[in-house]
Amino acid sequence: MIETDEAARAILRANDRGGYTVPNGRVYPFQWNWDSAFVALGFDTFDRDRAWTELETLFRAQWEDGFLPHIVFWKDDPGYFPGPSVWATGRRPATSGITQPPVAASVVRRLWDRAVEAGEGAAYRPRLEALFPKLMNWHRWFRDHRDPDRRGIVVALHPWETGRDNSPEWDAPGEAIDVSGVGEYVRRDTSHLDAKMRPTKLEYDRYLALVQHGRAQGWDHARIAAGSPFRVADVGMSMILLRANRDLLALAQDLGRGREEGELIELAARGERGIGWLWDEARQAWCSRDLLTGRSSGFVTSASFLSFYAGLRDARRDSAMLGHLDRIAARVRYLMPSLDPDDPGFQMIRYWRGPVWSVVNYMIGTGLGEAGHAGWADKVRADTLGLIESSGFYEAFSPVDGTGSGGDDFSWTAAIWLAWAGTAG
Ligand code: GLC
Repeated sequence: MIETDEAARAILRANDRGGYTVPNGRVYPFQWNWDSAFVALGFDTFDRDRAWTELETLFRAQWEDGFLPHIVFWKDDPGYFPGPSVWATGRRPATSGITQPPVAASVVRRLWDRAVEAGEGAAYRPRLEALFPKLMNWHRWFRDHRDPDRRGIVVALHPWETGRDNSPEWDAPGEAIDVSGVGEYVRRDTSHLDAKMRPTKLEYDRYLALVQHGRAQGWDHARIAAGSPFRVADVGMSMILLRANRDLLALAQDLGRGREEGELIELAARGERGIGWLWDEARQAWCSRDLLTGRSSGFVTSASFLSFYAGLRDARRDSAMLGHLDRIAARVRYLMPSLDPDDPGFQMIRYWRGPVWSVVNYMIGTGLGEAGHAGWADKVRADTLGLIESSGFYEAFSPVDGTGSGGDDFSWTAAIWLAWAGTAG
């Protein structure tokens, strides 16, 4: 374990580009939004100052309207497509024009609590004071731009926003995307990785068509939303934002910010009331829902299990989800596959259609533990530990045999090892 800890720290240091960390130097050579949040958890176990810097750097790329981009291109790199010239957001630093799951506030809460526990609250309070309004503005941006019916959910306008790029949840909604004008392009991901692990050409065409739509709207978030052919209420982002609003509320209380406290209480209450719209009664599970057709995806994915992390407590729904957990655990060696292994589209090493992600396991395990399901929480953590110990710090892993999938020496896997999976308990 000590050796693994050292290896994890070495990965974070090697992927550190000075103030921010790349997920993997070859496949993802820029700063990614939610990756950085998880990475901060890892740094915090051995370098508190560096952990806070990771998020401070990310928020330096925030737009005036509160939007926080999914990629920040601090330096150009030919190894990734689509790069800054394709996004053409016209920002400095160059960024993409879509966002990612809002885990940052929950991470900042944990960093803050640990700083206080270590007797460093006074030293870190000014940094928290500076981050708080930025987090607040990002959450307000979700409220104003991604929740048209004020349901307390998050509408994704691009599959990449969900962080679960090619989940089958986006297949049916994606059919509405016209790819006829996409034109020729050269992918870079499949020159680094086996195409069997990666999204298909049709999926990539759809991703690019949506980027072109954003660009044609001058990256004006209101205009993009109004005309987007892809509008899906993502169960993952919605659960994560609900949790993040509660965590930001705790920070507002610590900082004595009364006005924001009221706002966050209202946001969390709205989320708790509205998220029931994502419960699929026929499937007896939490699923994403297409806003354009009103249809539930009907897919049980790893994101379905984030309801515990979101703090939802409903005996009937919880027991249905625990039933799915039981069934899935009997089918695979390692929890939590990104897609139900009983689904005909399950593929153990293809992106978001089967593999296990350590960051999702961290959130699922944390939520299960908080909800009092200690046995399941332990199993999710032990499985994450087993995967990393037997295969290394891969981007993702086969739930069937533990084989690594995607990039190796992956920052967030190293971070989750240090902050959660590899800690004795
Ligand atoms: C892939 C993942 C996404 C992640 C990015 C960088 O696109 O699907 O969640 O943020 O890689 O690691």
